[in-house]
Amino acid sequence: MSSAFTRKVINGRPLIARNVSGGEMANRTPPRDIQRIACVLFAMVLYTAVYYQSGGARHYLMTSSSAITSAAARAGTLQVTTWNVAAINNNPFEYWITYNDEYEKLMIQIEQFINTPTEAQDVPVHKVFTQDMFQELDHELTERAKWKSVAEYWEKEYANRKIVSEFLKDPLLGSKRLASMPDRITNTINLANGEAVFRPTVINMYQGSLDNQQQWWSAWKEFMFRTTLSINDKTGQTVKQIPYQMLQPISPAKYPDITPQEAQDSLPLQTLCGAIFDAILVHMMNECAASPKAWQALKKTMVEKLNKQKTSKTLNILADSHYVKSDIVTLQEVSMSLVELARKHAILGKQFHIIVSSEFLDPVRDQNSVVFLNKDSFPAGVDKEITSQVMKQFDENVPVAVGDVLAVTATNVQGDRYLIASFHGDTNGLATKPVVQAVNAIVPAGHTLIFGLDANTYEQGKPGKTQDVSEFAQFFSTELHLTSCWGDTVNASNYTTFNARTFLQPQLQKGCRSTEKRSKGDVNPKDFILFPEKTFSIQKTWKDNTGEAKYTENMAFPTLDFPSDHGILATILAKNSNI
Ligand SMILES: *[C@@H]1O[C@H](CO)[C@@H](O)[C@H](O)[C@H]1NC(C)=O
Ligand SMILES: *[C@@H]1O[C@H](CO)[C@@H](O)[C@H](O)[C@H]1NC(C)=O
Repeated sequence: MSSAFTRKVINGRPLIARNVSGGEMANRTPPRDIQRIACVLFAMVLYTAVYYQSGGARHYLMTSSSAITSAAARAGTLQVTTWNVAAINNNPFEYWITYNDEYEKLMIQIEQFINTPTEAQDVPVHKVFTQDMFQELDHELTERAKWKSVAEYWEKEYANRKIVSEFLKDPLLGSKRLASMPDRITNTINLANGEAVFRPTVINMYQGSLDNQQQWWSAWKEFMFRTTLSINDKTGQTVKQIPYQMLQPISPAKYPDITPQEAQDSLPLQTLCGAIFDAILVHMMNECAASPKAWQALKKTMVEKLNKQKTSKTLNILADSHYVKSDIVTLQEVSMSLVELARKHAILGKQFHIIVSSEFLDPVRDQNSVVFLNKDSFPAGVDKEITSQVMKQFDENVPVAVGDVLAVTATNVQGDRYLIASFHGDTNGLATKPVVQAVNAIVPAGHTLIFGLDANTYEQGKPGKTQDVSEFAQFFSTELHLTSCWGDTVNASNYTTFNARTFLQPQLQKGCRSTEKRSKGDVNPKDFILFPEKTFSIQKTWKDNTGEAKYTENMAFPTLDFPSDHGILATILAKNSNI
């Protein structure tokens, strides 16, 4: 198998520990350097002062003059951070990112190519996927896969369609899923050994050369028909398969626009449409970019920073001074590999108990809600996991997936008892109210609820379809007597997401032009930290889409520096003395 196909999806790099104790510093200091000894002594005095002030809790010296001090150790306050870290996406071009002029220019060229192609751009399919390529493909379909020939479809339906107006933008081809279904299955294939391989195309992490149609076609054919891969099937068995063998028939029950004949021929037909789709993408990139090398170099940088370094960037932001002080961190859409790397991380692993459900894990979906408890504030970690009690509260109509809820109880150094929950709402936010109600209903006596969630609420909801943010705030404040880090009344335009799909992904109807990122994108107030009213006063709430405790409004993200499509939300709460 060509090594160009093989890439590790996750590339977490543990950070080197920078916790320097006074003692170590003294040992490394040359004895004759009196000034430096004085400096170290000063640091030790400072360390001791902070140590006693905070009630003797254990701290790490980051530098000689500042210590990590969790808010609880300062007694009476609590820092809570919540962040949907977002699942790994294997297409670096899927969302508009905020990057540089070269990127903007390329994406605007593509947008023009797709939305207002010139006659010279909107050529027939057989100009980019040639008759010869078709014949080779049909040979593979009939001889290797032993499927039916699709020569009739090719001649009557596809060869003469115009690539943009009649292929990419044909809504019927979209609703039949003839190009998007094979993409979904073969875009990125996870191997049994933990690595992943990529179909030779534009819209994934494939890094082989795609300088021209012939180069793409040779690699594509090889991948789809001759590359044997060891993968785990649904039952966990390791099996050997060639990518074309993984394709699934398209069911007319699920996709009613497909005709009975097309459904019957759906395996060879989707292979043909998938090949045409990839051929058009490669052609379009090479037409729109300054040169074939230019877009491939740009893609390489994006793959590196957006995809491969995603986990390490996420962990490093959490380990940074703004968030490592949190008493409680709730995360959503966390993969198990991120959990394991966090536990091994030199700072996070030392500072936090890192908790994932022991019961509700779906290894295939692999998107989990997670809680971090600061070891200074919660030395004993979790008292009890009570996720199952939450899951029992609602019926099957509530769209909650396994892994979306985590609920635990824990006791802090001051003896205060908490129920801490982390939750990832469904895309439309329809599970959010039932889940918040369910969690609130099981708070044990003497415990205070702290609930960090991606509520998936919208600035303007549609009744029965998408959860409106103001209506959600009304619900938790008046019906449940909870409040939020934003207060009781939420400003519906105080967003925590700002993302928009480009046209470089298989569902073109969801693509936004550069000028439509704001109007057609997902720009919404989605994230919350909830707690009972009257228990705390809010000292400070902030959001962050830069990794530097700052939020740039009107900026589409992720960016190459900020790895999620949700901002981080953090709050410092002061415990009210009268309760
Ligand atoms: C809500 O936030 C928006 C945008 O930040 C601001 O323009 C508006 O004045 C705020 N509305 C209220 C009621 O505070
Ligand atoms: C959003 O809410 C935070 C916290 O309440 C506040 O500090 C910030 O000014 C608000 N931003 C906008 C744009 O309204």
